[in-house]
Amino acid sequence: MTATPSPRTERLVEFSPQDLNGRLHEALELYVTAMNYPPSTVEQRAPMWLAHMLREDWRCVVALDDRDELVGIGYGYRGSSGQWWHEQVRRGLTTVSGAQAVDEWMDDYFELTELHVLPRAQGRGLGEALLRNLLGGVPTTHVLLSTPEGPSNAWRLYRRVGFQDVLRHYQFTGDPRPFAVLGRELPMT
Ligand SMILES: CC(C)(COP(=O)(O)OP(=O)(O)OC[C@H]1O[C@@H](n2cnc3c(N)ncnc32)[C@H](O)[C@@H]1OP(=O)(O)O)[C@@H](O)C(=O)NCCC(=O)NCCS
Repeated sequence: MTATPSPRTERLVEFSPQDLNGRLHEALELYVTAMNYPPSTVEQRAPMWLAHMLREDWRCVVALDDRDELVGIGYGYRGSSGQWWHEQVRRGLTTVSGAQAVDEWMDDYFELTELHVLPRAQGRGLGEALLRNLLGGVPTTHVLLSTPEGPSNAWRLYRRVGFQDVLRHYQFTGDPRPFAVLGRELPMT
């Protein structure tokens, strides 16, 4: 566990899979609170987060407050063939923009899977600090993410740091909400 300075009273810390495993319930509580999901989502998501930790180039950065409580989390991993999200996005991007766009965006990318800050800590730059710190340590040439169509705080953040449209109004299998897939080149400046 390596600590780096944060611009706020919270500190940003890189978590290993073991670190996150040890605080998984707390991290999932943070996630459901930030997303305003029902509490039962914690148990549903736990196996998925554990499986993600095993993926190539998995990287996680958290924000801890002065009482050592988790107030923010961001994680992701290298996207690759066979992953559900990768196949969904590839299908949509092939249909809308063609094979060349798939090659450009999806050959070497980090999927930013989760980024959340507790409501009590939002609006002070922590989301951006987490995003920059997380992406500052990934080895890929691109980053991709999906987010429900805006407007939202997440949209403002992603636009502010230079994410472009990759796919808009896309429907993932099994979710009726329209999503945007956004991306940008790395490294971030
Ligand atoms: C998206 C999310 C992670 C952003 O976190 P955050 O900590 O509020 O983000 P930031 O503080 O970096 O940005 C929020 C605002 O603070 C402002 N800000 C940035 N640095 C600041 C500073 N030093 N002082 C004061 N304000 C600052 C930003 O300009 C931004 O304002 P704007 O939205 O009006 O442009 C958070 O809103 C969240 O968890 N939302 C719910 C979950 C979610 O939607 N996750 C993404 C799923 S895809």
